[in-house]
Amino acid sequence: MKLWGGRFEGTPDELMERFNASIGFDWRLWAADIEGSMAYARALERAELLTAAERDRLIQGLEAVAREFETLVLDDKYRAGEFEIVLSDEDIHTAVERRLGELVGQVAGKLHTGRSRNDQVATDLRLYLMWEIPHLRQRLGELQEAILAKAEQHLDIIMPGYTHLQRAQPVLFSHWLMSYFWMLQRDRERLDDLGKRVAVLPLGAGALAGHSLGIDRQFLADELGFRAVCENSLDAVSDRDFVAECLFWAALLQTHLSRLAEDLILWSSAEFGFVELDDAYATGSSLMPQKKNPDSLELLRGKVGRMVGHLVALLITLKGLPSTYNKDLQEDKEPLFDALDTLKLALPVATGVVRTLEVNAEAMAAALDDAMLSTDLADYLVRRGVPFRQSHELVGRAVRRAEALRLPLRELPLAEFQAISEAFESGLYAVFDHRRSVEARDSYGGTATAAVRQQIERARSVSS
Ligand code: ARG
Repeated sequence: MKLWGGRFEGTPDELMERFNASIGFDWRLWAADIEGSMAYARALERAELLTAAERDRLIQGLEAVAREFETLVLDDKYRAGEFEIVLSDEDIHTAVERRLGELVGQVAGKLHTGRSRNDQVATDLRLYLMWEIPHLRQRLGELQEAILAKAEQHLDIIMPGYTHLQRAQPVLFSHWLMSYFWMLQRDRERLDDLGKRVAVLPLGAGALAGHSLGIDRQFLADELGFRAVCENSLDAVSDRDFVAECLFWAALLQTHLSRLAEDLILWSSAEFGFVELDDAYATGSSLMPQKKNPDSLELLRGKVGRMVGHLVALLITLKGLPSTYNKDLQEDKEPLFDALDTLKLALPVATGVVRTLEVNAEAMAAALDDAMLSTDLADYLVRRGVPFRQSHELVGRAVRRAEALRLPLRELPLAEFQAISEAFESGLYAVFDHRRSVEARDSYGGTATAAVRQQIERARSVSS
């Protein structure tokens, strides 16, 4: 069966048929396609294009098709119960309609009244995504929860904070961890926002120009759980902004995961030894018996390539496309499906890694050095009335001097400090306390324990 056979004398080339077919991946839309068709049958009856009996027959038929698709087997042949999908089915829309025809007969031919695969596929894909979003949101929330729990558990641990990967200032380990909470929180907000634009209904736009049959689009939207109806039929069938947005969302989320992963990869190395990955998330080497490799983290980092690739691929497909539907748009699905599949594994893996991560407070403490307190020393001079630019310069000189004498800064004698500036007095040595440095940074969003505790409280209130 071809949905467009009438105009054609010849049959398609076999390779063309393979090239053209999307059934190999759009089978995933079967539930959305059937749900959309059921709502459409109801709308057709309301428009008096079907009798109530015909509508019921169609809906029962669609329910039977759905029961078959629930058992879908994908190997060399695609089988859904008794039904065997063939390449000439082209896509999921054709397959469902053909099967419906086999089950309910002629009346199946009425289902497509006023509808095109153009508004149908756009509707199916949106509906699919509307159903996926809550699952993704849930998994994202679980990762945030793991981060929160870990941050609460380790609130007392101090570690070096880095910029340029150079030791910068001491911070709480929990403060570092919470920085990822907020990245993920924005990802969650973006997902919610994207969800609003996804839930706008194309169905009823026809092939491109609308329909002439009195089918109530608002009724369709209500039936299918869409919050609005597309305003312009041309836009409705060709808009894939929602896919692009979703791919951007996915690429940025994966980017956040990659940064988290990179920190942990580095810190799990022997050189740092700040954290240890649970065996459940590491693998060994086939050659070197001692190896424990952070493969989970490397994949979380490495998956960014394909995620950004999917976004770029879709944008390039969309760029310069003439109005309205063009077959190019069929290329929207594989990137979307793959991006969501990837995240559905990446998010729980990241959650498991965080939950089971061992934190080595001693190794972190051992990596704290006096030079990281230079800013505190400059602040000490500032409180003694030295302008900051000048105190920065003076402390810099002290650091250089201590280096020249091969001494940690706290062991630089007072006479040496005073040779640099009279403003240094014996009280300066109180600065050499990493805990004190951390606790002093009690500004909103700062690293002091009290500030981080408040941060965690706010995080709990926004994430629940
Ligand atoms: N398989 C097509 C897609 O995914 C369905 C829409 C086909 N429409 C058409 N006019 N050929 O985009």
